[in-house]
Amino acid sequence: MSSRRRTLLKVIVLGDSGVGKTSLMNQYVHKKFSQQYKATIGADFVTKEIQIEDRLVTLQIWDTAGQERFQSLGVAFYRGADCCILVYDVNVRKSFDTLDNWHEEFLNQASPTDPKTFPFILLGNKVDIDGGNSRVVSAKKAMEWCASKGNFPYFETSAKEDYNVDAAFLHIAKLALAND
Ligand code: GTP
Ligand code: MG
Repeated sequence: MSSRRRTLLKVIVLGDSGVGKTSLMNQYVHKKFSQQYKATIGADFVTKEIQIEDRLVTLQIWDTAGQERFQSLGVAFYRGADCCILVYDVNVRKSFDTLDNWHEEFLNQASPTDPKTFPFILLGNKVDIDGGNSRVVSAKKAMEWCASKGNFPYFETSAKEDYNVDAAFLHIAKLALAND
């Protein structure tokens, strides 16, 4: 009876140290949030199964280190990536300014067949902080950046309050499937 198709999608999460990459992943996969900061060293993945229409999709989500001294990921790491999640912190200008570098880094390392249509998504995280009063990058600015790079979808998220986390991961999974 089972005519379900299984698909494995490799998702890579990139962005500056402290923007909340690990927290977003933990919230999405384990429904947990910790206030404590523990820098990611190198890279590690977790998996999550989701159903998208007739497909059983296994997301293999690779969390990476934002701190430069822990970055030692070679081309092999990026090989076969199906999509890339870029994350910045809406309260930290620098984490937005470095998005160009992360985007470039991904394209250089993963060298996708068609960089123009490769599925990227941008997440503006930590929108919960100070009720939004300490944010320094507006949604408009972020969306302009997305438009300039090729119409990446943009989601504002909070790993702490589990805001938009599921929606963002589901969106990128669908994009990656469509690009398959
Ligand atoms: P590296 O591993 O160094 O690259 O950092 P990271 O991007 O994985 O950041 P991490 O998830 O470790 O989060 C850094 C700090 O921000 C931690 O103290 C988290 O608790 C906190 N944090 C993450 N997401 C949120 C959020 O949405 N809201 C708030 N208020 N704090 C958050
Ligand atoms: Mg981390």
